[in-house]
Amino acid sequence: MKIAFFDTKGYDRKYFEKFNKDFNFEITFFETKLDLNSVPLTHGFDAVCIFVNDQANMEVIEQLYQNGVKIIALRCAGYNNVDLDTAEKYSIPVVRVPAYSPYAVAEHTISLILTLNRKIHKSYSRTREGNFSLNGLMGFDMNGKTAGIIGTGKIAQIVINILKGFGMRVLAYDPYPNKVAADKLGFEYVELDQLYSESDIISLHCPLNEDTKYIINEESIEKMKDGVMLINTGRGLLIDSIALINGLKTSKIGYAGLDVYEEEAEYFFEDFSDRLIGDDTLARLLSFNNVLVTSHQAFFTQEAIEAIAKTTLYNIEKYVNGKPLENRVSR
Ligand SMILES: NC(=O)c1ccc[n+]([C@@H]2O[C@H](COP(=O)([O-])OP(=O)(O)OC[C@H]3O[C@@H](n4cnc5c(N)ncnc54)[C@H](O)[C@@H]3O)[C@@H](O)[C@H]2O)c1
Repeated sequence: MKIAFFDTKGYDRKYFEKFNKDFNFEITFFETKLDLNSVPLTHGFDAVCIFVNDQANMEVIEQLYQNGVKIIALRCAGYNNVDLDTAEKYSIPVVRVPAYSPYAVAEHTISLILTLNRKIHKSYSRTREGNFSLNGLMGFDMNGKTAGIIGTGKIAQIVINILKGFGMRVLAYDPYPNKVAADKLGFEYVELDQLYSESDIISLHCPLNEDTKYIINEESIEKMKDGVMLINTGRGLLIDSIALINGLKTSKIGYAGLDVYEEEAEYFFEDFSDRLIGDDTLARLLSFNNVLVTSHQAFFTQEAIEAIAKTTLYNIEKYVNGKPLENRVSR
């Protein structure tokens, strides 16, 4: 089994090489992302392994098929970057890692909330420069405040459990409510409008699909409390960034914590510190001192990377052995 890995970094290599000792696949690591320009590299490979910012759209999948690729293995949970219809048309199964460490993403979500609230990012640079003033650093007690959680799957339930530990009231919206989780964790399902109007902190944990693209837009922001904190560790396209910028400029939005950004593919995971950022929207977001951007790092813990490597190779082994693909993505 020859597998072409795309968008790989040193840490991918380290963990996949370690766990591949149990599988013995022939792996080639490419640094480039998979897209129409790089797809010719897949000639002669049986499988491709891709990540969040690789593109497996219709044209790419058609070429994968022509090049003899038989399976697409995502080493992530989200699959919005794969055209499932085209994959199915060419009988190319798509497998993913549905849950590697929901704790990793949930804990990063909480880090963003706490950092923004207590302005740790500002204190860190201030005290290092000998500035011990508290001006502008005032936060708020989370105890007694209301959090609004959109999407109540694996990650969200851990976030909710932690927020309940702070003594917060938690409202949630999900088109497929999980009554058992709501009773166990003590949160309440409400419609989106109520969630927007009553929440002090809103956090996005739904997948990106046709229903959720730009779920946060001018209209939904208008319905939110003044000074609301908005957190996105889901997918960039859940938020209309221009609407977010307008909300920040009018102080409707008091804080934004973004681990994902709608046009992140060109920038995230790369070092641009010696170059100009040509994306004016991203540059504007970075200019606000009440906005915290991390570059899609919520998943990035040792435990998560190990689980990703093991499950990805396990998924491919199942395919090789003709076994049912329990982690297959269906439309
Ligand atoms: N930043 C990161 O590093 C990172 C890592 C992993 C996952 N993610 C993102 O987090 C998302 C959630 O992950 P998960 O493991 O909790 O997924 P999950 O599948 O366990 O939960 C998703 C929940 O969203 C709900 N949902 C579906 N459509 C919705 C809608 N229109 N409105 C509100 N809710 C809706 C589903 O019913 C489900 O309960 C993933 O889809 C992925 O995009 C980000």
